[in-house]
Parts: sequence; C-alpha cells; structure tokens
Amino acid sequence: MKRIITYGTFDLLHHGHINILKRAKEMGDYLIVGLSSDEFNASKGKGAYHSYAERKMILEAIKYVDEVIPENTWDQKISDIKNNEVDIFVMGSDWEGKFDELTDHCEVIYLPRTDGISTSKIKTDLLNKR
Ligand code: CTP
Repeated sequence: MKRIITYGTFDLLHHGHINILKRAKEMGDYLIVGLSSDEFNASKGKGAYHSYAERKMILEAIKYVDEVIPENTWDQKISDIKNNEVDIFVMGSDWEGKFDELTDHCEVIYLPRTDGISTSKIKTDLLNKR
C-alpha cells in the first residue's frame, strides 16, 4: 500500500491539474493533496478565486483524490510525510529540484507539467477577452 502526497492551490480546476492528480495516483494506492489555505495563499500574495472550502470540495469529488489536508506553511512537509506515512512526494516540474531535501524521508518525483494551461493563464485570457 503506497501513499502519495502532492501540494498546490488547485484554483479554477483545469486539465493540467487532473493530469497531475491522475499520474500521481497511478504511482500508488492512496493520494493525499496538501491544499494551500486562503491564509497561506495571502501570505504568498496569491489570491484564489475559490475559497479553501470550495477548492477542497471540488478536489474531494475527483476520483484520484483520497484525502485533502490543509497546507498552511512552507515547512510542514516533513511532518506531513511522517504523520501520513507518505512513500512518494510528487510535484509538477515547475518545482524541479526545490524539494530534494525531502528525499531523506520519502521518494521525491517531479512530473512534467501539461503544456499550455495554468490558473494564471485562465485568469489573464478571460481578462483579455471581450
Ligand atoms: N500543474 C501541472 N500542469 C499545469 C498546471 C499545473 O502539472 N499545466 C501542476 C503543478 O505543477 C502543481 C499542481 O498542478 O504540481 C498544482 O498547481 P497550481 O499552482 O495549483 O496550478 P497552476 O495552474 O500552475 O496555478 P498558477 O497559474 O496560479 O501558478
């Protein structure tokens, strides 16, 4: 029984999100998503359109997602990995190399991002569309 964890904001859900969740789940049996809280997003200067409760509800309806936990700080990952008995930490390749220190605690895998889509792009495209 392999347990996987991945993190993100997952706002304005798109097919890039689904691709990474699907591939993450295929690496094991149980997928946990660390979902950034509204306060954590604010601290990064990154507002989400949907609230934490809404983003959590949407993620929980996805068949690849088994559990959603809040991400409140940058440095909770080691304790999340230990507390949830995580075997594999998965992130998109935009984070390549950024979490290599976690290899002391579990396997760390960066998956290629889906080309041509992001939450930021959706927001910009909608603003530019009249
Ligand atoms: N992701 C991906 N492919 C994309 C967009 C996102 O694989 N085209 C992955 C990210 O690498 C991350 C996860 O989805 O592991 C959650 O990313 P998030 O930052 O919430 O989504 P983005 O669309 O990248 O949002 P933003 O534009 O606000 O950065």
